[in-house]
Formats: sequence, structure tokens, C-alpha cells
Amino acid sequence: MADLVRYDVKDRVAVVTIDNPPVNALSPAVWTAIDEAVARGNADAGADAIVLIGAGTTFIAGADIKVFDTLKTAGDSMTRSGGTHALLRRLEDSAKPLVAAIHGNALGGGMEVAMSCHYRVAAADAKVGQPEVLLGIVPGAGGTQRLPRLAGAELALQMCTDGKPVAAPKAKAAGMIDAVIDGDLLIGAIAFAKEKAARRETRKAREIALSAEQVQKGLDAVAAMRQSLAKTARGLRAPFAVADAIEAGLRHGFDAGSTREREIFADCVVSTESKALRHLFFAEREVIKIPDIPKDTPARDITRAAVVGAGTMGGGIAMNYANAGIPVLLKEVDRAALDRGMATIRRNYDVTMSKGKLTAEQVEKTMALITPTLTYDGFDQVDIVTEAVFENIDLKKATFAELATVTRPDCVLASNSSTLDMDQFAQASGRPSQVLGHHYFSPANVMKLLEIVRGRDTSKEVLATSLKLGRRLGKVGVVVGNCFGFVANRMLAYYMREAYLLLEEGASVPQIDKVLTDFGLPVGPYGMQDIAGIDVGARIRQYLASLGKARADGPQSEVPDRVFEMGRYGQKTGAGWYKYDAPGSRNRTPDPLIDQLAAEAAARRGITRRPISDDEILARITTALANEGARILEDGFALRASDIDIVYVYGFGFPRHRGGPMFYADTIGLATVLSRVNEYRARFGDYWEPAPLLERLVAEGRGFYGEAVARV
Ligand code: 3HC
Repeated sequence: MADLVRYDVKDRVAVVTIDNPPVNALSPAVWTAIDEAVARGNADAGADAIVLIGAGTTFIAGADIKVFDTLKTAGDSMTRSGGTHALLRRLEDSAKPLVAAIHGNALGGGMEVAMSCHYRVAAADAKVGQPEVLLGIVPGAGGTQRLPRLAGAELALQMCTDGKPVAAPKAKAAGMIDAVIDGDLLIGAIAFAKEKAARRETRKAREIALSAEQVQKGLDAVAAMRQSLAKTARGLRAPFAVADAIEAGLRHGFDAGSTREREIFADCVVSTESKALRHLFFAEREVIKIPDIPKDTPARDITRAAVVGAGTMGGGIAMNYANAGIPVLLKEVDRAALDRGMATIRRNYDVTMSKGKLTAEQVEKTMALITPTLTYDGFDQVDIVTEAVFENIDLKKATFAELATVTRPDCVLASNSSTLDMDQFAQASGRPSQVLGHHYFSPANVMKLLEIVRGRDTSKEVLATSLKLGRRLGKVGVVVGNCFGFVANRMLAYYMREAYLLLEEGASVPQIDKVLTDFGLPVGPYGMQDIAGIDVGARIRQYLASLGKARADGPQSEVPDRVFEMGRYGQKTGAGWYKYDAPGSRNRTPDPLIDQLAAEAAARRGITRRPISDDEILARITTALANEGARILEDGFALRASDIDIVYVYGFGFPRHRGGPMFYADTIGLATVLSRVNEYRARFGDYWEPAPLLERLVAEGRGFYGEAVARV
């Protein structure tokens, strides 16, 4: 225990230092060691007060999330949390003033420990919060009970349902923190604790009484929060569970509220929602670890950038750089296209400003970082160029050859191609080690995914630089292999193929979209196409057809091409898979014409249309994703199943609480997934072929994540 929590006495104050790198997470041993150290402080005649502080960069980032996997049943959790609640009461019952000294973060269980101390002091840049909801759970160590008593039920509800941390000054104003310390935190905390000891003052959050008026205000806030969550948290359990736990404490007092919190926590921690969100928490941290690129691989700082092509994607990419404070040249071939591109950027910033997210001054400052140009002047000064010209291999190869002549030899040359072969660009440039893909998702200034496409010769330094740059641009960078469509679009092709075939077979556009939005996606496949532009996919299909290729195996529905030929490109033309009030409008209505096109296509393929159940739609689409995901994994184009989950969550809004398509397949059980593939093969044809990896995992009784059976 001694190494996890240290005990010293300074100036008649016991200093308990939690030292469990990297974030002082509360493993069972740390909980126990804190308990023992506070008891020692109370028994120590040489100490008049006790200060609890974290070693390293932070106070306590919460309970150790890995430990939750050991809780197999709600009963396990009840036993464990019973012990934790009692332990925190013992801290709170400390006879000597107990002061938490917070720097970095006091999150989750860390905040709950701090609230069980009599007082909290914090560095000015410290943050406190209850982010459990982001892991599909509620605060489980009294947070739903002590926080409303310290900060008021309204703010407590807000913090526990959105999971966002609060900065120390605001936390002080709200009553969560008693003092903000300028200068050395420990010295300030010791002085604060001595003062309390001199006055023999202690204060227990659990004993703070709430007036009838405060209770009523709190209950009103709970009711209002439930209403708002009904709109914003559809399909989730944890945010509503937070409201339940806080309400219990308001109605029935601290002890009954605490018991209810334990029950609710116990249910949540074994839920699929929580397992999925915890899976993503670790997946997000795993994704940056590339086996042959150690942490100490040199990564360049990008101080100046350039983007070639000022279309929708190029403009969005330039905005990413400007938003991160990096000056960027934006090059086009003709003045009109350049002006259009800059006007779109301006419009985007104006929209952000009208929502109050940027001031006029910030917009001007950011816009000033984007320099429009028609020439390569200044390209010899930049550290990276991202090519975002029209998706045509010859044009792109010519662009790379040109870029090699106008940039420094160490300049990174990235392509935003969504389908083409990076190695061909690498060859064209004559400096293959500097070339890779930076595949952004539309709208590029909004979507968080960045596929970092590793070419055959891409250097480790260029990859490390890209990972670092991705973080600076606020993206989640995932290193993927250089296969057709990379990971995101390769899977999307199978997702869309199934959506198109289901339409031909008898489902309708609104039905398919609703099944997917009910599942938790922000938008269904057809709504998404209408936003992205039906012409984009159609042009790629045309290009592939000219090469004798298709995006996905199996029958190709003709309906998307017919819609394209009619000039129905989606929202921008006022019609696509839906009809819109006007071009650019989002107000849509279903269009019987699409059913007619689907019926004609079905007749041509000799298919008798039939009613299709919502279950079949979901099963076929998610099975197609998992089967193709397994192929990608086996072919080595993704490093891990969890990387594929990250790609789909951040690229296409796959619901986080389902964990991603691969995790979701595990929750269904891979044996079920395989039996579906085989069933579809018998019904629809050999293009439904099980991925060998899927067959092997089922034969071995394993899942993508190593478990033998379904997780639900
Ligand atoms: N448990 C276990 N491991 C944790 C952890 C936790 N609570 N918090 C962080 N880690 C690990 C990460 O997995 C990572 O490990 P790795 O280096 O092996 O990949 C390492 O600590 C560093 O974490 P980050 O990379 O995230 O470091 P940052 O400096 O970017 O961020 C942070 C620090 C803001 C503290 C961030 O880690 C974070 O948000 N952590 C989780 C906070 C949280 O959700 N707390 C609530 C936990 S649940 C709880 O407390 C229940 C209670 O009510 C009973």
C-alpha cells in the first residue's frame, strides 16, 4: 500500500498523497490505502488536520474503469459499492478537518472522495466533474447525493447528465470548492487545514440540509431534465438513471438516496450500454498505439500548411488548420472556383457565429489564417500539403508530381482521396516516404474521423507526425491500410449495398431510415445520401465501372443510378431519395416515385417484392458491416477490431452506446452473426459469403473481443 498512498506530516498536518500513475485512478487497493491513511492521521497525535492530495499531474481521475469488468452481476456491484459508501462515510466522519487539495482533475470517484472531505481547495486551472454518464453509469460513490447538497440540484443534474467538467473558479462560485489557491497548492492547503483545525471546524456534505423550497426547485429541475433528455438522449439509460438517483435523494434524504444510487449504479454497470461506452473509452486510447511506431518516434510540428483544391472537402480541411491556429494556403486553378470556396468558408463561419459559438473578431482572426491562392507561391515554406482535387487518378498523380517540385523534400504530402491507391501517388511524387492519405469525412470541419492511410513506403516519422497533427486538429486519427475504400468507405459500401437491395425487395426509404435512426444513428442511409449528395457516389461508381470494378461484391441495385440520372442529387437539388420543399431545404417528404423505381428494378431482376420487417432490415445491415469488418481485419487493413469501431462511430455516427459495429456483433454473438450470413447466402446468393475470420472465431468459441458468448 505504501507506494500507492504516502503518509507524511508537515507543519502538524498529515499529508496523504495518492500516487497511482498515470491518473491516480481508484483501484480497490487505493481506496483501502486512503482509508487507512486518514485513520492514521486521526490517530496521529502529531497532526491536527489532514490534507489529501494527488501526486503527478492530477488529483484523482475516478474509479479504475478496468475494475468494472470484474463486476459480473448487479449483486457484485452492490457488495462492492456498499463497502465504498461506508468508507466515504468514515472519511467524512474524520474527527480532524479533512481537506482535499485538487490539481488537474477530480473526476467521478475522485470528485466523490473530494466531496467526502470536509473542505476542498483547488488550483485555479483544476477541474471537477462527474463524467460517469459518458461511461453509461451514474456516480456510484455518493456523487448523486453529495453534489446536489453542495452545488444545488440544478447544477448537479447538469453536471451528472452531460458529464462535462467544471473549472475551479465556477466550482467555487457554485459551492463545490471552498478556496482557489494561487501559488503552491500543498502549502495553501496546509494553511487552510490549519486554520480549520484552529477553529475546530468540520463540515459534512451529507449533513447539509435542504429547505423545502430547495427540494421543490430540485424536483422541478429533475422533471425539466427528463423532458429535455427525452429529446437528446433517446435510447440511453444512464442520463435518466442520474435523474432517478438525484430525485431519490431529494425526496427521501441522503441515506435512502444513497441506497437508491447504489441500486441504480449496480444495474447500469452491468448494462450493455456501459460495456459499450467503456469499450470505446479504451478503444479511443488504444487507437493511437501503432505497434511498430513507438511513442518516441520523432513527430514534426506542423507550423504552416497548404491545401490544394478549394471544393467542399478542401475548404473544410483548410478550416481545420485555421481553427487550430495553423496558417494555411488554399490553392485552386481558377479564380471563380477559389472565390466560391472562400465564400463557402465565410458562410460556414458566419453560421457558427450566428449560433454564438464564435465572435466576429474570432472569425476574422481565423479567416485571416487562410490565404487563397492561384499559384504555388509559398509552398516551399509549408510542412504539409493536403491534396483535395477531383477524385481522378490521373489528375491526382499529376498534382503529386507537381507538388514534389514546389515543396521542400521533407514536406508531408497527403491525399484526401476516399478510394484511390496512395502508392500510385507516392510513385508519382518521387518521394514515397513522405506520402500518405489523410482521409477526412464530410463536412471535414465537423466530422471527427481522420483516416490516416499508410502507404507501402510511408515513413514512420510521417505517420507519427500525422497522428500528432490529427490530435491538434481535434480529430480522432486512425491508421488504416491502403485498400480500396480504406476502412470507412469499404464498410459503407456493404452497408449501402444492403440498404439498396432491401429497398428493391420491398422495404421503403423512410422505413429503412427509421430503423437505423431508432437504432441510434443520427441519420439513416438515405437521409445521409441526400445530405452528402447522390452525385458524389454515382460519379465514383461510374469511375469504378470504367475500370471494371464495383464498390461492393454482389448484385448492384440500379435504383441509385436512376435517381442520379434524373438530376435528383439530394437536398441541394430539392429532391433525392426524398422530396424537399425547395433546393437546400431540410424539410422532406417521402416520394412515391422511389417506390416505383424500386418496383421496376425488382421486376427486372425477377424479384417479387414483399413486406420486410424492421428486424430483418437491422439484422441484414449490421451483419453486412460485421462480415466485411472481419475481412478488413483479417486482411490487415485495420490494426484491431476496436479501430474499426472507432472509424464507424466517428465517421458515420454509429451509436456510441452500441460500441461500434464489431462490438455490436459481439453483443449479438458471433455464432448468431455467422448463422445469419449463412441464412442470407441460402436465400440471396453466394455474394453473402462468411468472412473466414468470422468462421474461425465461431469455431473457437470466441468473439472479436475474445469472449466466448454474446455480451448481452
Ligand atoms: N480508470 C482506469 N484508467 C484510466 C482512467 C480511469 N478512471 N482514466 C484514465 N485512465 C488511463 C487511460 O486509459 C490511459 O491509459 P493508457 O496510457 O494505458 O492508454 C491513461 O490513464 C491516461 O489517460 P488519457 O490518455 O485519457 O490522458 P489524458 O491526460 O488525455 O486525460 C483524463 C486525462 C481527463 C483524466 C482522462 O483520462 C479521463 O477522462 N479519464 C476518465 C475519467 C472518468 O471517466 N472518471 C470516472 C470513472 S467512473 C467512476 O469514477 C465511478 C465512481 O462514481 C464510483
